[in-house]
Amino acid sequence: MNDMTAQSAIEAHPKGLPGHFYYDSEIFGQTRDRIFFKTWQFACHQSLIPEPGDYYAFSILDQDLFVVRQKDRSIRCFYNVCQHRGHQLVESTGRARVITCPYHAWAYGLDGKLRGAVGVTEQTGIKKSEICLTSVRVEDLCGFLFVNLDNAAPSLQETFPGVEDEIRTLAPDIDERVFADQSSADEYCNWLVAVENYNECYHCPGAHPTFASGVIDPKSYSITPFSAQVKCLRHSAKAQTGRTAWYDTSGSDYGSFFLWPGFSLQIYPSGLVNTYHWRPDGPTDTRVYRTWFSHDGVVDDSLQKVIDLDRDTTVAEDLVLVKKVQRGVASRGYVPGPLVIDPENGINSELSIYMLHRWLREALHAG
Ligand code: FES
Ligand SMILES: [Fe+2]
Repeated sequence: MNDMTAQSAIEAHPKGLPGHFYYDSEIFGQTRDRIFFKTWQFACHQSLIPEPGDYYAFSILDQDLFVVRQKDRSIRCFYNVCQHRGHQLVESTGRARVITCPYHAWAYGLDGKLRGAVGVTEQTGIKKSEICLTSVRVEDLCGFLFVNLDNAAPSLQETFPGVEDEIRTLAPDIDERVFADQSSADEYCNWLVAVENYNECYHCPGAHPTFASGVIDPKSYSITPFSAQVKCLRHSAKAQTGRTAWYDTSGSDYGSFFLWPGFSLQIYPSGLVNTYHWRPDGPTDTRVYRTWFSHDGVVDDSLQKVIDLDRDTTVAEDLVLVKKVQRGVASRGYVPGPLVIDPENGINSELSIYMLHRWLREALHAG
């Protein structure tokens, strides 16, 4: 980790982004093409598709996709679109030996190759062996599956070098985690408003009093860019061990790894694994997903209590904050204010916000 490289590269007195970055449809279109269609997007945890034929459908903006476990247990991803006349192939999640299109029943193997098509005989001149679903890159980081629509993009490991090792240091048994619970909510804001809000804890003591007294010790909170090149923000804090703690937080401390542009793996004290991921739906609409993991996929009473407290406090509080910020940045009276860059990089520092803006501008200019 090299925060000095990142810190030394800061321009003097950085300010927030102009308001139109958060609602302009042209900027949103560029963001879609140059960021979300070119970077690694979280699909699902591998434990959601444990057996051959298990599939999980999801979308990145207007692109429908699905991941599917192969007979050799490897995982592939395809665009969720029939190669006949474009009907969607699968919905949600399930298990299949062949993927059969609901429209005219063309049937594809788990490898995407067309196996059968009603009425398609040799006389039609259609060569079934040449028809295959369109493949998408899928890679695994500690059991979390990511896809990339850009065939020329660097691999996940090349994009986030060193991150996996650091995750394993904090959670050595990360591979044993199993999906346990997920909820999602509409956030009435631009994706970057939501991601900025996640990536600073300046607002934690005031806006999240229960998190700040139940999970982490706010005095110890810091967010450090992994390096100037690696687009990962590393959150760390000591565990909150007082009588207000939500659960038995003894053992390991808190850490989180935000992977640009829209996923964060959090390891709450004592190794409680959970994630956030954000999917933009439009310039001022985003869906946030909150997911929890356990060792056996079961939500026991202790985990349920944490999930409930988190949903009713931290998540609910953030939903209100981001909605109000979205309204504010569209105000004719909004003037982007200065970012607080604390040389000690303590809880009040907005170095992470500066880095997010830098990565956004780099991507937009690179287009
Ligand atoms: S569109 Fe899928 S079989 Fe026709
Ligand atoms: Fe928050």
